[in-house]
Amino acid sequence: MRPIRPTNQRPSRKNGPAAFLLLAALAGTAVISPGARADSASDHRAGMATLTDLKAAITSIVQANDSFATDRNVYHRASQRAINALEGTHGPDYRPAAGTPGDALGAIGHIDALLHRKGTPVWAAPLDSAEANMRAAAAYLLDASHARSLIRFQLATSRALTYLEVARGRPTEVGALGGMEGTLANTVLGVPAGAAVENGCSRPSSAPSYGVHGGYLAWIAVPASAGTHSLGETSGGHSLIVEHGVIVLPTAAAALVAKACRTHAAATPEPAPRNTAGPAAIPAMAIPTPANRAPPALYTKAQAAAGARLFAVTCVACHGANLQGTAAPAVAGTDFLKTVEKNGWTLEALRYLVFNNMPFNAPRSLSPSQYAELLAFLLASNCYPAGSKPFPAADDPAFAQLKLGPVPGPHPNANQFGVCPTG
Ligand code: HEC
Repeated sequence: MRPIRPTNQRPSRKNGPAAFLLLAALAGTAVISPGARADSASDHRAGMATLTDLKAAITSIVQANDSFATDRNVYHRASQRAINALEGTHGPDYRPAAGTPGDALGAIGHIDALLHRKGTPVWAAPLDSAEANMRAAAAYLLDASHARSLIRFQLATSRALTYLEVARGRPTEVGALGGMEGTLANTVLGVPAGAAVENGCSRPSSAPSYGVHGGYLAWIAVPASAGTHSLGETSGGHSLIVEHGVIVLPTAAAALVAKACRTHAAATPEPAPRNTAGPAAIPAMAIPTPANRAPPALYTKAQAAAGARLFAVTCVACHGANLQGTAAPAVAGTDFLKTVEKNGWTLEALRYLVFNNMPFNAPRSLSPSQYAELLAFLLASNCYPAGSKPFPAADDPAFAQLKLGPVPGPHPNANQFGVCPTG
């Protein structure tokens, strides 16, 4: 048996069908209206109980390994306790004598109860693979519970632990790789009973609240007032935004949701109402006017050069040295400008995406002036002319009127990807 290796479900266009499926699922689901309630409270409780049982199983084995005990019974009992935590009192291998560190249903029992229903919530797939991994772990734990030597016990439990760690996952990962932690941190399953649920495509209008779109959790908002505020599950986000007396914790699913929100907005005839609390979803397309057909000078040469250096450190791994796209889509040149035209992106849309969602693995981790340098570099690489005024670190409402696209005229220095040099 090998651990179930979840496929990479990041929304990269070059990473295979999983990403498309995930995005399609997101785009197809209706926006939960503000004020709506989360999935049933029992779903959340079952999700949390699964994680608790899973952790209990892991602890049982780790403690036995750390105890340096020489008595075989200590190992056998620890393995059996871990099985009990996974399978619960109704499991085929449950042995009451070893004790039950989890609850009666066990981690697998909770997942079975969650999956035994109509419809396919976004958390079904990761829970499915978490369950498969837990069953594989239980099989090795059974070997460990009969092991005749310390070495055999250690071999069997280290295999079991590998499966259990994959099932546990991490809050920074969305999809199968996220396991239980990622699912609780990034989907509605992590929203506690009675919590206020808002539209994950917008900024919070109240706190505490949970921003949800298409079954995914985009952010958690807590009041920026004194006191202890409890969170549903560990947040897998990389940043924390304080605005209008509210602390917003974007989850690891935030970038994914932002993309789905854009797709959703594009498919919706009337523009979504702008949230007055701050910059909401990507603004709707601007109508091109003759005035913005002439390519404007939006940045300085020096700024683009600084952006190029920054890109080589923070962006190149995913977008490629020629900005042609490798693991992630192209960000300049022919391929990129096709996307830009197809989506009707304005400068505001591009700015929003880069400032808020990039780098994909650490959104909002750079300073506004660094993001401005990166924008300058992206504009230069897309053959927009340099000028005397730097690209501003602060947002400019005029950007929402500026539609991006191929800059007219010949670009003799552009490379085979249609990317203009910045030097
Ligand atoms: C860990 C990989 C990763 C890193 C690092 C990264 N990106 Fe991205 N980027 C992505 C992915 C994946 C997408 C597609 C996201 C989506 O579709 O929502 C993307 C999309 C983009 C886009 C929009 C392109 C399009 O067609 O959707 C731009 C522009 C962009 N990134 C700029 C940057 C910049 C600038 C940096 C450096 C600060 C950066 N990225 C760092 C992964 C990355």
